[in-house]
Amino acid sequence: FLMALAVTHLAIGGDFPAPSKLPLKEDLPDPLVMLNGTKVSTKEQWLKERRPELKKLYEHYMFGVAPPAPKVNAKVDRVDPKALGGKATLKEVTLTFAGIEGPKIRVLLVVPNKRNGPAPVFVGINFAGNHAALDDPKIELNPNWIPGNYKGVKDNRATEASRGSQKDVWNIEDAIDRGYAVALFYAGDLDPDRKDAREGIQKHFGKEFDWSTIHVWAWSYSRVIDYLVTDPDIDASRIIAVGHSRMGKTTLLAVAFDERIAVAIPHQAGCGGTAPSRRRGDPGAESVKRINTSFPHWFNVRFKEFNEEPERLPFDQHCLIAMCAPRAVLLSNAEDDKWANPTGQFELLVAADPVYKLLGSKGVGSKKMPETGKLMASPLGYWIRAGKHSMNRDDWAVFLDFADRHVKGK
Ligand code: GCU
Repeated sequence: FLMALAVTHLAIGGDFPAPSKLPLKEDLPDPLVMLNGTKVSTKEQWLKERRPELKKLYEHYMFGVAPPAPKVNAKVDRVDPKALGGKATLKEVTLTFAGIEGPKIRVLLVVPNKRNGPAPVFVGINFAGNHAALDDPKIELNPNWIPGNYKGVKDNRATEASRGSQKDVWNIEDAIDRGYAVALFYAGDLDPDRKDAREGIQKHFGKEFDWSTIHVWAWSYSRVIDYLVTDPDIDASRIIAVGHSRMGKTTLLAVAFDERIAVAIPHQAGCGGTAPSRRRGDPGAESVKRINTSFPHWFNVRFKEFNEEPERLPFDQHCLIAMCAPRAVLLSNAEDDKWANPTGQFELLVAADPVYKLLGSKGVGSKKMPETGKLMASPLGYWIRAGKHSMNRDDWAVFLDFADRHVKGK
């Protein structure tokens, strides 16, 4: 049994060194140096060599390898042209995958009725099902396993009392009023967030794919985008991805790996997302060891080998940010949320800057962290507000300003 395990491990692994054989680096690795030490000095080298190498490194050491996209079939189940008091058209769309029986993604798409041409869209991955995002008795109650701490959830299933419970997290009407569409989907549609039971889509694919839960969630984003780019109401060149916390980690990965997304807003994403894996930044921030222990399913098996020595990682999370270049990325934080390491996050933004500059982007607006409550709206953007870990209406006001700047040129 042990031997079989070792062989699978190798087969999935590719031919990078074992974690214990990688050099210890206290400093953040230079994103513009290849694993073999070659310096990256042109845009072409970045796009053709370093970026693809980073993708492989992240798959190998952290998120696991995901399968290629199957054909996505979309079924529009319901259209309400008079949603939000007539301001918007609401669609519920089910996505299924050719040759795969069972797993589906339910998309809630709300599009402003007042607009000239296709709408830019925020795509968000949620914790509790689409029915929680609006008070609308017609939205399908998500039938899957849902964490028990959400309002109205009984025995890990949604009930009528769950409706609208996350309305203030998503603020759909504010986005509609500013001319944006919003598309939402539930993370647990393809992989419920459980460490005690593995009931995700992974079992439908071969063992060569060791994709972790966060990678499944990021892959789900891409499947939702497979649909959105075919919807004539949506402007495919102006897709903004947004997610909070574990879904913020997912958002950054999705944008790094899927170039169709124009803007990334990973909100309070922290460790394994927008915060350094190396020990730096705010004291008391979450560590690699801690996250791997509390949430073993979020990352692949190999990532646990860095628990004691994250300094052996051949990348840090600024490299994942850099993979988004030259697209806009907003790292968004709260002062009391030190667990997510707001100071370390700003350091990563500065460390990703040379890649943005190489690609001709303005990159980071300043090397100094902005004051609380002042948006730094440069392509590598930063925002920190007073208060704690949550996604709320004030955050959305900032997300909308950042989007206006980067997809509407305001
Ligand atoms: C935990 C976890 C964080 C995560 C957060 C969340 O606090 O340690 O890494 O971001 O949950 O998703 O809310």
